[in-house]
Amino acid sequence: MLKVAVFVSGSGSNLQSLIDYNGSFEISLVISDKKDAYGLKRAKNHGIKNEYIGKENFPNIQNRNDEILRVLKENDIDFIVLAGFLSIVDEKIVNEYKNKIINIHPSLIPSFCGIGFYGKRVHDAVYKSGVKFTGATVHFVDAGVDTGRIIAQDIVSITDTDTIDTIAEKVLEIEHKILPKTLDDLCFKK
Ligand code: GRF
Repeated sequence: MLKVAVFVSGSGSNLQSLIDYNGSFEISLVISDKKDAYGLKRAKNHGIKNEYIGKENFPNIQNRNDEILRVLKENDIDFIVLAGFLSIVDEKIVNEYKNKIINIHPSLIPSFCGIGFYGKRVHDAVYKSGVKFTGATVHFVDAGVDTGRIIAQDIVSITDTDTIDTIAEKVLEIEHKILPKTLDDLCFKK
């Protein structure tokens, strides 16, 4: 069973979908850059090791990244999932876990992604663009922002009655399906 670390910055509903999924991986560690991230509470509720590693306890960015790497090694982590993680993952970590870090993005990459496209901002841009479909993407993490190789996508249609909030809800629903399934497929092949 591969040992997975999940990085969160907020609610952690994608983390919850991974915890609830019965697959070929175990969520061994949750790391957050936000002390009050509800994702840390979800980890605690399920007895999963969790660490806040952020500006308050590691003000120096280099020390922060070194601590993340140290904790990953200490827990024998095989795979990393970014699930609503808002900090950029240091290149040293990306290189150490080459092709073993995946991210879930709430749009059909290469549309509506890259710097500044996160959370509701993505759905706001989708709504304003007038596109009739959007969706979610699971991709490998490389040194860029949302630029790694695409692994899986799923789509939702956008109707005339949709709002930014209903689009966000529709996309989050498919995120919760494609992330665990994609991670399971990857871990099973390892
Ligand atoms: C999700 O929409 C994800 O695609 C994006 O950030 C959001 C995180 O939501 N990266 P949650 O914290 O998993 O509920």
